[in-house]
Order: sequence, then C-alpha cells, then structure tokens
Amino acid sequence: MLCLPRKLAFGMTSLLQLVNNAGVAWSSCPDKVLAAKEVLNTNYYGVKNLTHALLPLFRPSAAGSRVVNVSSMAGQLAAVGNNKWKEQLSGEDNLNEEVIECFIQAYLKDRAEGVDTVLLIPNKEVFEAYGDYTLSKAACNAHTRVVARDLANRKEGEKVFVNCMCPGITSTAMSQNKGHSVEEGADTAVWLVLRPASECVTGKFFLKRQDRGFFYIREAFSIDAQSMIPEK
Ligand SMILES: NC(=O)c1ccc[n+]([C@@H]2O[C@H](COP(=O)([O-])OP(=O)(O)OC[C@H]3O[C@@H](n4cnc5c(N)ncnc54)[C@H](OP(=O)(O)O)[C@@H]3O)[C@@H](O)[C@H]2O)c1
Repeated sequence: MLCLPRKLAFGMTSLLQLVNNAGVAWSSCPDKVLAAKEVLNTNYYGVKNLTHALLPLFRPSAAGSRVVNVSSMAGQLAAVGNNKWKEQLSGEDNLNEEVIECFIQAYLKDRAEGVDTVLLIPNKEVFEAYGDYTLSKAACNAHTRVVARDLANRKEGEKVFVNCMCPGITSTAMSQNKGHSVEEGADTAVWLVLRPASECVTGKFFLKRQDRGFFYIREAFSIDAQSMIPEK
C-alpha cells in the first residue's frame, strides 16, 4: 500500500477534506527566536504550506471541499495588543500573506530584543510560555481568512469552505491532560467537515459549533493559562 505523499505524487488520489490538526504549544529550545520559529513552523507555516500544496488536488464536489484549521482561542485578536497589527490583521481586502509575514517578523524582532510590543501580554510568565503559541495561532486565523476570501468566488461544484476552530481545553499531552475529552475537542472539526454544503460558511472561527468571530472570546480570559505551564 502506498502512503499518501506517494499517492499524491503519482496522481493516484484526490482530496475532499483537509483538517490541519498538527500543533505544538512551545519549544524547549533555549534560544527564544529559534524557539518561536519552531512553533511557527508547525502552527503557521505547516498549515499554510500544506494547504497550498494540497489545494490543487481537491476534486470538484457538489458538497464542496473543506479545509478546517485546528487553531485556538489563544490566537484571537484581543491578544494582539498592538493597535497597528490588530487593525492590519482584522482588515478584509488588504489582509494577505505578506501582512501576516510582517506581523511574524515584528514578533521575532521583539523576541530577539527581549521586549513585547506586538502581543502585549501583561503577565510575563504567561508571555514566555504562550507568546509563541498565541502569535502562531493569530497568524493561522488570519491565514484562514485570506485563503477563504481568495477561494470564495469559485463556482458551484468547485467550492472550498475554509474555516478554523478551537477544540477548547482538551485532555491531551498539550494541555497537561486537563480539560474535556478528545471526542468533545474534535466535535466541531468533524461537524465542519460533515456539514451539508447548503449550511456552510467560509472564513470563520468556530468554538462549540458556533461562529465566534476573531476578536474576543470571553472564555479565553477565564482559562488559567498559568496552570497549564509545564513544570521545568
Ligand atoms: N489540547 C488543547 O487543550 C488544545 C486547545 C486549543 C487548541 N489545540 C490545538 O489542537 C491541535 C491538536 O493538539 P493536541 O491537543 O492533540 O496536542 P498533542 O497531544 O500535543 O498532539 C499534537 C499532534 O500534532 C502532531 N505534530 C506536532 N508537530 C508536528 C509536525 N511538525 N509535523 C507533523 N505533526 C506534528 C503530533 O505528532 P507526533 O505525536 O508525531 O509528534 C501530534 O499528533 C493543535 O493544533 C493544538 O494547537 C489544543
């Protein structure tokens, strides 16, 4: 049996759905810039590159194809404290991959200089533990909107619905096994993949099967982020 990359390389298969689930919360690399890049490589560049690589292989379907990015409430725009970036990332027509890249570079510059001008997370310990993750998921959310907008005018039968979601605090290695069951965490992603085309929207952020927008989710501020920081 051939594995997926080989099947794709030989044109032996086509796709209907892509769920970008892989993610990391932090890196153990002592160099802060390299650590941030490591997290970004999986949580943002992985999602971006895989989506671009696989989109041409999506086959036409009356039900519409689906891309679901497993993101996080952590990446909501309320966590982006800098108004310039908040404005740029919440733009509609002017938001693109270059803007997202500049946002990332501004954060990496902060990391190199040991300051926080992009996210402005007041709690230093939480910033150190979750700054890279927050940034990467904000970039992932913005990218979801860019791809959704760019594909929005596809004709009937070739539509691709692109959305992101947060599984909520889910009991896995990432959360130190805190939170609800994996089934509950996966529920919204599965629902987005299986929804009838007539009910589908694109370019949205979902939590518990609800479109919650990209700006502010109250639950995010009731999470005790500090309790999820692993002991050294
Ligand atoms: N758990 C939560 O409370 C929570 C909350 C909000 C959002 N999320 C998001 O949910 C998603 C799943 O996380 P999880 O809780 O299941 O975390 P997890 O238990 O740590 O699992 C992460 C998964 O991502 C894979 N992965 C990591 N880096 C990869 C890479 N570079 N290439 C390919 N695969 C890679 C891992 O594969 P290996 O096992 O092979 O390393 C593993 O299967 C993530 O995107 C995460 O950000 C989780």
